[in-house]
Amino acid sequence: TLCLLALPLAAVAGTLDEIQKRGTLRVGMEPGYMPFELTNKKGEIVGFDVDMAKRMAKAMGVKLELVSTAWDGIIPALITKKFDIIMSGMTLTQERNMKINFANPYIVIGQTILLRKELAGKVKSYRDLNDAKYTVGSKLGTTGEQATKRMIHKAKYISYETEQEGVLELVNGKIDAFIYDMPYNAAAFVQRGQGKIVHLDKPFTYEPLAWAVRKGDYDFINWLNNFLNQVKNDGTYDKIYRKWFED
Ligand code: ARG
Repeated sequence: TLCLLALPLAAVAGTLDEIQKRGTLRVGMEPGYMPFELTNKKGEIVGFDVDMAKRMAKAMGVKLELVSTAWDGIIPALITKKFDIIMSGMTLTQERNMKINFANPYIVIGQTILLRKELAGKVKSYRDLNDAKYTVGSKLGTTGEQATKRMIHKAKYISYETEQEGVLELVNGKIDAFIYDMPYNAAAFVQRGQGKIVHLDKPFTYEPLAWAVRKGDYDFINWLNNFLNQVKNDGTYDKIYRKWFED
């Protein structure tokens, strides 16, 4: 009987206790999504989410371990406990929320359009792209892909493994437009696009980004929401935001 009692109690303890016992917070992310997580010249993963994860680990009094994971397998990896939390610019969608829990959103973004220069003026919004004569790309398993299939369904669609590949194909004139999250498109435009491509930077979807944990992890969600409130109001969030979005 003692065993029967001990088991459910241990299960209730949750991820927050596991992190404390282990002495390490394990964060799952897929680098390549600037400015949230990218690999720098030294081979280190850096970005907005990384700085936030560092703060989080510090506030927990534990070490930080980043677990690099392919985007299309990131939710199964969370569920099978490869890490404690997803901090990877993930859009909170109702479909994903059926499988995992989300903390309160930490930023709101939306899909924008990187466009082949020759189409400037002709294509003014996603509606103009919704035509069989256009070829549009986005990234596998993302909300960019979902938005394209839903809202630009008449165009030919190409799915890319990485966002970098998609932008490159656009710059090389292989596709007419690349649909993706606004912060990424803005950074990609500054990096390689000027003079070659156009950024239609008015978002046409509503996408809150949020940290995700396993279902039922209410203690962890409670901690995360209170942590987010703290950093949003004590200047920490603004400092990290300015570093990655305004420099
Ligand atoms: N916000 C988009 C989504 O949730 C793309 C996020 C991609 N993140 C990344 N780290 N590669 O589908």
